[in-house]
Amino acid sequence: MSNPDTSKSVELEFSKKYNRDHAQQYASKHSETLSRRLSNWREQRIARSSLKLAGNPKSVLDLPCGAGRFLPLLAEQPNRKIYAADYSEDMLEVVKQACDEALVQHVELFQSSAFDIQLPDNSVDCIFSMRLMHHIGNPENRAQMLKEFYRVSADTVCVSLWVDGNRQAKRRQKLEKKRQAIDPDKYNQNRFVIRGEQIEQEFMDAGFNLLGSFDFLPYISMWRIYVLKK
Ligand SMILES: C[S@@+](CC[C@H](N)C(=O)[O-])C[C@H]1O[C@@H](n2cnc3c(N)ncnc32)[C@H](O)[C@@H]1O
Repeated sequence: MSNPDTSKSVELEFSKKYNRDHAQQYASKHSETLSRRLSNWREQRIARSSLKLAGNPKSVLDLPCGAGRFLPLLAEQPNRKIYAADYSEDMLEVVKQACDEALVQHVELFQSSAFDIQLPDNSVDCIFSMRLMHHIGNPENRAQMLKEFYRVSADTVCVSLWVDGNRQAKRRQKLEKKRQAIDPDKYNQNRFVIRGEQIEQEFMDAGFNLLGSFDFLPYISMWRIYVLKK
């Protein structure tokens, strides 16, 4: 493990919300209703495709792992070394309770910020980062996180986020404007749609090449997974 470098630390307001209650709610969220189960199924499918495009990496860091939703998928490849980390200690506790015991034993689980990953340089083949980047509105913070991904991954990164150019993003942007107009003082945006062209430039600025991308539902959904190569 590397020594934490406090100069790298970025503290996001949203990161503090994953306390015990929220972590437990998150664990059941994706199986609560038929539409959420369908959505989880589709997300897992495109996540599997992204790992395939990344060359079915032999070692993967799931960051943030949340409640361990993607661990069974990551374990589909025999002999894959799996690391899973999250900023929230409570989330890590939920992984231990909610996931299959044999699976958890196979995973190296640890607390870490995505801005200051507690692993040495080039220590995994792939960083697999689902549902974190859309919380990061400031391009400087995204650059810091991508720099850390570049340092720790030896080869590829699979990263999901919200992009523009689809129906859901248009609706979301309207909703944010409305919320801001209703109560500008209390308005506190913690999820962001990013322009596709802009994020692709940010990936390249961080030193990555773009291998490809997978849309959850092209032209309709704003979720996209990018596969990046060092
Ligand atoms: C929306 S959940 C996504 C979890 C998982 N990837 C999934 O899709 O089920 C966001 C997660 O990001 C974690 N998180 C928040 N800030 C973080 C940070 N700076 N570094 C690493 N993880 C963070 C939270 O604790 C939470 O588990």
